[in-house]
Amino acid sequence: MNMHPPAGVEFRPLTIPSGIDASDASDFIEMTRVRNQVYREISGHDDERITAAELLPHYQPDAYETRLIWTVREEGRIVGRCGIDLPHEEGSTLAFWQIELLREVWGRGIGSAAYQLIEQIAREHDRSVLQSWAEHPQAPGPRLSAPTGFGDIPEDHAARFYLRHGYTLQQVERASALDLQAPFDTIEALHRDAQQAAADYRVVQWFAPTPSEWVDGYAWMKSRMSTDAPAADLEFDEETWDADRIALHDARYTDSGRLLQVTAAQHVATGELCAFNELVIGADRTEASHQEDTLVLRAHRGHRLGMLVKCAGLLSWRGIAPASPRVITYNAEENRPMLDINEAIGFRPIAYSGAWKKVLP
Ligand SMILES: CC(C)(COP(=O)(O)OP(=O)(O)OC[C@H]1O[C@@H](n2cnc3c(N)ncnc32)[C@H](O)[C@@H]1OP(=O)(O)O)[C@@H](O)C(=O)NCCC(=O)NCCS
Repeated sequence: MNMHPPAGVEFRPLTIPSGIDASDASDFIEMTRVRNQVYREISGHDDERITAAELLPHYQPDAYETRLIWTVREEGRIVGRCGIDLPHEEGSTLAFWQIELLREVWGRGIGSAAYQLIEQIAREHDRSVLQSWAEHPQAPGPRLSAPTGFGDIPEDHAARFYLRHGYTLQQVERASALDLQAPFDTIEALHRDAQQAAADYRVVQWFAPTPSEWVDGYAWMKSRMSTDAPAADLEFDEETWDADRIALHDARYTDSGRLLQVTAAQHVATGELCAFNELVIGADRTEASHQEDTLVLRAHRGHRLGMLVKCAGLLSWRGIAPASPRVITYNAEENRPMLDINEAIGFRPIAYSGAWKKVLP
């Protein structure tokens, strides 16, 4: 396959500045603006927007993964980006990648040339399992079904791109939104029911940085996200989390003024943390909120702890971010227990993404 991008197009390693006010930050700032435009062009809204100051901490040196990123330039102008993440777990065979181009440059072979770069870097780092996610907006025409039996997506430009480069669809993920300006009566009622069903547990709550008394319990639950979330035939390394990893994770939010609220359920008899839910908002508290990880440890399932931590989190969030219009969340389409909770709370589907995988020979 042709390794070279079309004439006038180049892939340039992105300089990661030490801070957003640094003299060499302009490329990072422009990359962020293009990233936000790409997401707006795909989804039709700005809820995935992030500021350069908020994105930058995610690209600072990290003991747990290597993140390589290039800007895609046409005649010097940034028209997209591509990147690959290489987890540091021992013996990892995994790589996670993304290619994101402004719509005006699609269909000219730029994505395919960027993909050649991604695969070359994966091979250089002995990574054979390549995985990637993309939103596939609703469109007429042929559709592809997830092998899980849950969900399908249109065979659109991005889907054809993955297929042509040897990828198979593994899982469909649903994005859902909850209107935060609507009445909370349902959530209050669900919260009361969950409290009754979970009488052996109490809710504890904090904001990043994680208070020392919760670090160990939170670290264990974060590590179980890598083993216990429904993954279809996608592959994830089992992650080890400790106080250092929690501190880095938390700093990614707090360094730029983002707010991360963690709502957890504690087993009263043992003191163990058994379930948690995360809600996040950027420094601009009028933007959309994001529900990030939610998990109930396996041994504690069946006590409505998922419902408990989600409802308790949302109820306090009303006071934290009263001007935020909605909460966005992502779930595997086959994750019925979690979708049941979200649907009961009032989340409605807004978009579907595909999770794609290729195993290199
Ligand atoms: C998916 C994406 C990366 C593809 O990039 P792209 O540059 O449009 O891809 P290419 O141009 O290499 O290939 C796309 C099409 O152009 C055709 N094409 C490739 N080279 C061409 C050329 N030189 N001239 C004309 N057409 C060409 C391909 O055959 C393909 O056609 P098809 O849609 O009928 O299958 C891009 O659309 C994008 O950024 N989408 C939004 C983000 C996203 O979904 N990313 C997915 C990976 S994370």
